Amino acid sequence: MSQLTPSILSVCIAGTGSYVPERILTNAELAQRVDTSEEWILSRTGIRERRIAAAEETTSQMGTHAARRALDNAGLSADELELIIVATITPDTPTPATACYIQHNLGASRAVAFDISAACSGFLYAMKLAKRLIASGAFKNAIIIGAEKLSAVTNWEDRSTCVLFGDGAGAAVLRLAAPGEGSILATEMGTDGNLTHLLKIPGGGTACPITAANVNDQLFTLNMLGKEVFKHAVNRMKEAAEKVIERAGLTAESIACVIPHQANLRIIDAIADRLAVPNERVFVNLDKYGNTSAAAIAIALDEANRSGAFKRGDNIVLVVFGAGLTWAAAAIRW
Ligand code: ACO
Repeated sequence: MSQLTPSILSVCIAGTGSYVPERILTNAELAQRVDTSEEWILSRTGIRERRIAAAEETTSQMGTHAARRALDNAGLSADELELIIVATITPDTPTPATACYIQHNLGASRAVAFDISAACSGFLYAMKLAKRLIASGAFKNAIIIGAEKLSAVTNWEDRSTCVLFGDGAGAAVLRLAAPGEGSILATEMGTDGNLTHLLKIPGGGTACPITAANVNDQLFTLNMLGKEVFKHAVNRMKEAAEKVIERAGLTAESIACVIPHQANLRIIDAIADRLAVPNERVFVNLDKYGNTSAAAIAIALDEANRSGAFKRGDNIVLVVFGAGLTWAAAAIRW
């Protein structure tokens, strides 16, 4: 989907926040559970460890922690909040939306709240949506949240997937930009529904309800054809990033920081290479958290922001890829 008409009103990111659970699951521990090794996981993915939520900890609780931190960072109170969009593939319940629980937890009673499902791309889908809704005058501000408890949908006996995923949440507050402030310069989203089979949770929906007969078949866990996904990820992320870079009038040299989806270090290196952005300007934290789907880029944005990877006035590029297949990118002047 391309951006045909520029927004009249600029929308900025006023604050970010994130949260990860306390429990660290290391590669060494995984090597004791399935037929893998610390060396294989690190060299094939770049992941050293991931965070795992407590049994009773929900996606909405993690999202609420991240949201409070983002509101605090933005200097916005919960009762001023007008819109909450949560991107997740691991909602607390199929209905109501996880965003409704977060609205309750925050006490953001004025806010309209709903979820979107676009796997790892969800946070940037939410960003485009919120930007448009604010720029159109429908809402004054919004919080977008990527939150996932992937440990609940992981097959812990499948070495090809269980080494990849983790839990966590990230959030960003969007509002109209004042003159002279930064803004979201360009966004891009895409979907290829011909490739739904490459990455999916097959069971639990209407296509394959979980029944007493199939309850032990791991149908509610993530299945992935990793090699195929890898190939598409590199091409789609490169194209999406190039589109927003061009539309925003940027060059590789004028980008202070690229924040890619945190799925595999080899994918990130390939993207950096193709965009001709040096590795030191590419933000990576997947060594600590693994792939947290919609939460990954949201957590990375917050950590990059708070660690000083970029400053006010710098140009940054975010780019993601996930099940669907889906992809998205955003160019932002901070
Ligand atoms: N430990 C040891 N060996 C393993 C493991 C493991 N954990 N997992 C797989 N292997 C083996 C395979 O069985 C295979 O063995 P074989 O050659 O004897 O058949 C061999 O390693 C190579 O397997 P590949 O799947 O070809 O390994 P690859 O190098 O492609 O790496 C990986 C796999 C890490 C999954 C990679 O393909 C990848 O990162 N893909 C992209 C994932 C992604 O980007 N997902 C984004 C979206 S996620 C979302 O939306 C929720």
